[in-house]
Amino acid sequence: MDAAPPTTAIDITATPEWQALADHHAQLRDRTLRELFADDPDRARRLTRQVADLVVDHSKHRVTDETLRLLLALAERAGLAGHTQAMFRGEHINVTEDRAVLHVALRAPAGSELVVDGQDVGADVHEVLDRMAAFAGRVRSGEWRGHTGKPIRAVVNIGIGGSDLGPAMAYTALRAFSGRGITARFVSNIDPTDFTEATRDLDPAETLFVVSSKTFTTLETLTNASVARDWLLAGLGGDQAAVAKHFVAVSTNTDAVREFGIDPDNMFGFWDWVGGRYSFMSAIGLSLMVAIGPEAYREMLAGAHAVDEHVRTAPLAENLPVLQGLVNVWYTDFFGAQTHAVLPYSQYLSRLPAYLQQLTMESNGKSVRWDGEAVTTATGEVYWGEPGTNGQHAFHQLLHQGTTLVPADFIGFGQPGPGIDQDGTTGEMHDLLMANMFAQSAVLAFGRTAEEVAADGTPAELVPHKVMPGNRPSTTILAPQLTPSVLGQLIAFYEHTVLTEGVIWQIDSFDQWGVELGKVMARQLAPALTSEQPTELDQDGSTVELVRTYRRLRGREA
Ligand code: F6P
Repeated sequence: MDAAPPTTAIDITATPEWQALADHHAQLRDRTLRELFADDPDRARRLTRQVADLVVDHSKHRVTDETLRLLLALAERAGLAGHTQAMFRGEHINVTEDRAVLHVALRAPAGSELVVDGQDVGADVHEVLDRMAAFAGRVRSGEWRGHTGKPIRAVVNIGIGGSDLGPAMAYTALRAFSGRGITARFVSNIDPTDFTEATRDLDPAETLFVVSSKTFTTLETLTNASVARDWLLAGLGGDQAAVAKHFVAVSTNTDAVREFGIDPDNMFGFWDWVGGRYSFMSAIGLSLMVAIGPEAYREMLAGAHAVDEHVRTAPLAENLPVLQGLVNVWYTDFFGAQTHAVLPYSQYLSRLPAYLQQLTMESNGKSVRWDGEAVTTATGEVYWGEPGTNGQHAFHQLLHQGTTLVPADFIGFGQPGPGIDQDGTTGEMHDLLMANMFAQSAVLAFGRTAEEVAADGTPAELVPHKVMPGNRPSTTILAPQLTPSVLGQLIAFYEHTVLTEGVIWQIDSFDQWGVELGKVMARQLAPALTSEQPTELDQDGSTVELVRTYRRLRGREA
């Protein structure tokens, strides 16, 4: 990929490439996946490609070679190649915040040359990584001790959004690599039950808090951090000196960290060119690194870097995250799909859907282009999901026979997680898990006709109920095993998918203005909830009534 970055936005729906896709859609929409496979025996082989360890099967999509050609032409028209290269060069493609977007620099190997805004970004990244590794090593070896001299047995990450979901998801995914000597916990919600449940069985003398916040101004995180400090001091006899041994911070805001009472020597920095939801491979991953160790952590970075390199160098037509993003646009804008299911056939990936919700929806849930004009087509997809096979016994009914088209991603592995016996019953369990995954994507795609159902001897009145419409698209991603490297590859794959979609829609995938107003209003409302006397609220009638009811429930008003 090589081209200049776009400077102005276009109305993508007014382009001939868009019109060509609309015309093509009119011809293709009634063709079934059964027909597409029957007409093209080589289809599965041709539409299955590999990036690093990820084998990605796009054959069960409602596309032909012509569809892909037209989608690629749309990507060219949108300036995707130029935009992607501009990102890798550190240009300020986050236009509304005037920032570079360089999460890819977080996993570039040492010695990579990248100077952004006059700063050697590669050197900065590795300086922090080395500090993190040294710190994690000291905690893991027991050299770093708590205030009373005990080694650390629990690390509690306090953060929210991008300062929580990444490390929480990755710790769940990679806990088999953790050695289990140190447990990691994650506190995000300002709901007091979150902190209470996370710490109820922990010994303050053996607990390390990592306060993670890019801005270090986030209400939830700072409140939880204060509660944690009180909990620690109460447990350790009130000596303020204990804080230095039990609190470290991850942030871009040194002053706020110091003000909170954490010594900047115990702070791990990152930079404004790392977006919150793209940040878990920065110092935000510290709790994960303490749990799984620096070596496994670096393997994860290397895995992500392998996919970054693919995205940077492969032509668009062979670029797998690009193809995935384009297919997502195809369903969102031409088939009217609104949601996207993520179905990992791995219990270790149980937090992946939640992680992807922030990554995709905070990035692409926008209705204004980067030039400030309104978009003229649907953007963003509502991501959701659950690990298979649990979802099969819950919502797959709607996927199979409902009236809504839900493109799905199936993610599975050749081997069960490490530490699980490959043979015997547990090995067979893994085979059954994967048999379910293959069955689900096949049934979604190919369904079962009324004739086939009737041929089974099904009573006539039940036939319509048992027809499986099929023609429901999915991607399947298969990898050898859920290792740190493979997790890094998966995350990078999705990140670049988001970029592709954002560029087609000409939206800034790296800002998040839509979350600000609610935060401001919550701060305004809080005093009215807690005051002794009822206050006059200058708000809408519903909010006024809800606050009144709440005050009654809290016994603050009759
Ligand atoms: O409210 C949204 C958000 O700004 C996310 O983008 C971010 O990941 C999260 O809050 C946490 O922000 P911080 O790391 O600054 O505490």
